[in-house]
Amino acid sequence: MPTLKPAELDELFAVAARSLHNSYSPYSKFKVGAAILAASGKIYGGTNIENASFGLTNCAERTALFSAITAGEREFKALVIVFNQKGLAESSVPCGACRQVMAEFCSPSMPIYTADVSSGNPQCVNHKKLQDYYPYPFSPQALQTKPHRTK
Ligand code: THU
Repeated sequence: MPTLKPAELDELFAVAARSLHNSYSPYSKFKVGAAILAASGKIYGGTNIENASFGLTNCAERTALFSAITAGEREFKALVIVFNQKGLAESSVPCGACRQVMAEFCSPSMPIYTADVSSGNPQCVNHKKLQDYYPYPFSPQALQTKPHRTK
């Protein structure tokens, strides 16, 4: 697992916590923030965005990843997810849909940190690799045709 500089990790937590602050979650009241570090060194934040048509909700992780993809990034070094549910952060993990989306762009060894920010300061509760969360992704290799990436 590539090691991150402490300053990079601090910045990831800070961006994720700021993103959580902007969560649009009037239905679940469950705020989530995420931040992804691209190979370029840039960090992209994301939050969960709910909808009155519940199934259209976008999770924080996918919001962050899609922002990075939109900016032209295609390789990633680390992901941070923050929750503000005191005592519940240990059971707060990325959902299945987000794991599959991560598997499209992120290496199996990419580190994923989860943290509880309910006290104000991020308390890291989990540090795993993508492959720990999602060992058997449906991958582009399963398709007859490879993805035709323009970048
Ligand atoms: N949520 C995320 O943003 N990320 C996750 O990994 C799990 C769930 C959001 C979706 C919804 O807005 C709320 O949390 C409750 O499910």
